[in-house]
Amino acid sequence: MSDIGLFDAIYSQRAITRYRSDPVPREAIEKVIEAATKAPSGGNTQPWHFVVITDRELVARIGGIYRDKWLERRGAEAPADEPAAYRAARYLANHMPEAPALILVCVVDHTKTYRPGTPGEPALRERLGSSIWLAAQNMFLAARGLGLGTRLTTTHTQCEQEIKDILGLPDYVETVALTPLGYPRGRFGPTDRKPASQVTSWNRWGGS
Ligand SMILES: Cc1cc2nc3c(=O)[nH]c(=O)nc-3n(C[C@H](O)[C@H](O)[C@H](O)COP(=O)(O)O)c2cc1C
Repeated sequence: MSDIGLFDAIYSQRAITRYRSDPVPREAIEKVIEAATKAPSGGNTQPWHFVVITDRELVARIGGIYRDKWLERRGAEAPADEPAAYRAARYLANHMPEAPALILVCVVDHTKTYRPGTPGEPALRERLGSSIWLAAQNMFLAARGLGLGTRLTTTHTQCEQEIKDILGLPDYVETVALTPLGYPRGRFGPTDRKPASQVTSWNRWGGS
């Protein structure tokens, strides 16, 4: 494992769609999850849980569910004018069953007060759910630091119960992201983003 600098990781971390078939060492997976658990959270509630899926049969099954849902939503045939982000997402969807590993990022109310489908659900989604993205980004940056690719995907939430049933997730857990993890076949960044100056105001809205 070789670490790179923090800013190099931030500037070149991008959504990877093509993965080599090499398995990801367990220590690397543990390290990226450990990085995720260092994230801040509201009231330090740490409302997260990470389900690592490396069993080939399970990856194929969960990845297959993801692929089918993605293609159902976007169509099995790519339109000629499909935007680049969707072209990449389509490639990943078709290859999700072969991902070297999958990590299912879950929001958990450890007090078990809020459950999906109950009146408390907005609290689960909004209060606890907003903390999870910081953990996910930590995980992505740590993966980048180790030369591993990731991509945040959410399409599985449209068939969440099926996935929860397969993996035996309890009802007080909600899944928010499914990320492939593996060594990329392509290159990391640079990413195509608006310049910071275009999305920054000094002292008042629009102030330069
Ligand atoms: C909230 C969110 C949901 C996303 N959902 C999906 C998804 O379901 N499938 C997918 O392939 N990519 C998904 N993405 C990945 C984005 O399309 C990707 O991060 C974006 O196009 C930037 O890609 P880049 O880092 O390569 O420039 C999602 C990203 C975010 C932040």
